[in-house]
Amino acid sequence: MAAVTEAAMSLGHELQQSPIVAQAIEALVREVRTRAAQITDIRPALPGAQAAYQDLLRRAGEARGRPPLYPYVASGLGNGALVELADGSVKWDMICGIGVHFFGHSEPGLIEAAVRAGLDDTVKQGNLQSNFEAHEFCETLLGEARKNSRLRFCYPTTSGAMANENALKVCYQKAMPASRVIAFKDCFMGRSVTMAQIGDAAAYRVGVPLTVGVDYMPFYDPVRAASMGQAKFIEMCVSHLLQYIERYPGQHAAFVFELVQGEGGFNTAPREFFTALMDVCRANHIAVWDDEIQTFGRTTRMFAYESLDLGDYIDVLTVGKMSQACATLYTEEFNPKPGLLSGTFTGETVSFRVGQKVIERLRDGDSYGDAGSHARHHRLFREQVKALASRHPEWFPPVPEIEDIVGGTGGMMRFTPFKGDKTAVPKACRAIFDEGVVLFYCGHGPYHLRLLPPLGVMKDQDWPRVFACIERGLAKAYQAM
Ligand SMILES: Cc1ncc(COP(=O)(O)O)c(C=O)c1O
Repeated sequence: MAAVTEAAMSLGHELQQSPIVAQAIEALVREVRTRAAQITDIRPALPGAQAAYQDLLRRAGEARGRPPLYPYVASGLGNGALVELADGSVKWDMICGIGVHFFGHSEPGLIEAAVRAGLDDTVKQGNLQSNFEAHEFCETLLGEARKNSRLRFCYPTTSGAMANENALKVCYQKAMPASRVIAFKDCFMGRSVTMAQIGDAAAYRVGVPLTVGVDYMPFYDPVRAASMGQAKFIEMCVSHLLQYIERYPGQHAAFVFELVQGEGGFNTAPREFFTALMDVCRANHIAVWDDEIQTFGRTTRMFAYESLDLGDYIDVLTVGKMSQACATLYTEEFNPKPGLLSGTFTGETVSFRVGQKVIERLRDGDSYGDAGSHARHHRLFREQVKALASRHPEWFPPVPEIEDIVGGTGGMMRFTPFKGDKTAVPKACRAIFDEGVVLFYCGHGPYHLRLLPPLGVMKDQDWPRVFACIERGLAKAYQAM
């Protein structure tokens, strides 16, 4: 209910403009704020809440067929980076639904947008029939994407995996009848049958028949690049790529790039690595597909391709997670024929309205650039890890596969205790959870502790408080080893 209805002065527009609605929303948001303000620090479960909470966990496990990984059921209220669980305990949320809640918990502006969305006549926006929110979300996203790329159009959808499915279809149609895909070692692309096949994790496709031809490229390896020379390493990767192209001439529809690998370990690479590979793609008519589902909004620019000045290369882009609604963007040349992209619904009014607010906040705030808040938070995080490692060198033995025990970029933060051991790192996650911080792990060996914090609301002074809990958790995990 935005621009279109404004012009038409419809009843729907009148409803949105109603002072009664405005007052009611204000009262609701005020009530949320008042209660949220009482959440100021971590705390244990409320006395007597344990039995009811255990029952919720039991029911969650019975419905799903297995218990949740963490004993986590949230109450529906939080304050910034703090989240309350249904037993009244409070924790720092440093993983945010694996990167979704970039503005933390109970954020008043987003609640206002969500409540307003709840007044819409339908919950879902359809592909056939849509209100304007879905289109306005795409316009806002495109407004940013078009600044530094050739991306021209946007198709919204409901999950990252579905955005990737749509991206792959767009690439296939352009390169018809090419059927192969090039992807990086350790990439992650989602859980659909096709994306589970392209993603480089055997455990995520047990029992899934392999029907997609995928050729895997090495990702940038800073340790090898340092020992053999960066130029030589890149040359080796280019020759690897050329071998695939020679082996399967004209059969590759796309090369999918995660410019910072997410699930694979928050691995970064220099611009020259990507340009060398993308130049080969261009010369061989292989689409450059940039999967920014995890990186979107989070690096030192809104799009990771901007932080690496790669916009001109990108043919197809996918975004998700913090954008709330997911989307596939493509250039004019890649605009598919009618019939290829569709579906009953493209998303929910609430996702479009809140997602649009998120993009506007990122656009209008001070997040980006070397002096932006994402870069500053990353520095503060690094300082905390370095201080922790100097207090407890025994927790941080050298890991030969990585350059540094702390890594990532912007709001993608990782560090590597216990030599990145496959058993010890998940156990450390659980010990840290018990001490009041929710985080997760990433990497396929070495394994890292992974943080996707709510940088949109995180305060500088939160870092030492978060790390005090992490230190206690690591101490317990170390003792238990
Ligand atoms: C790079 C990347 N691509 C795709 C996906 C899949 O997104 P979703 O889980 O929303 O389907 C993810 C999710 O973690 C991701 O990190």
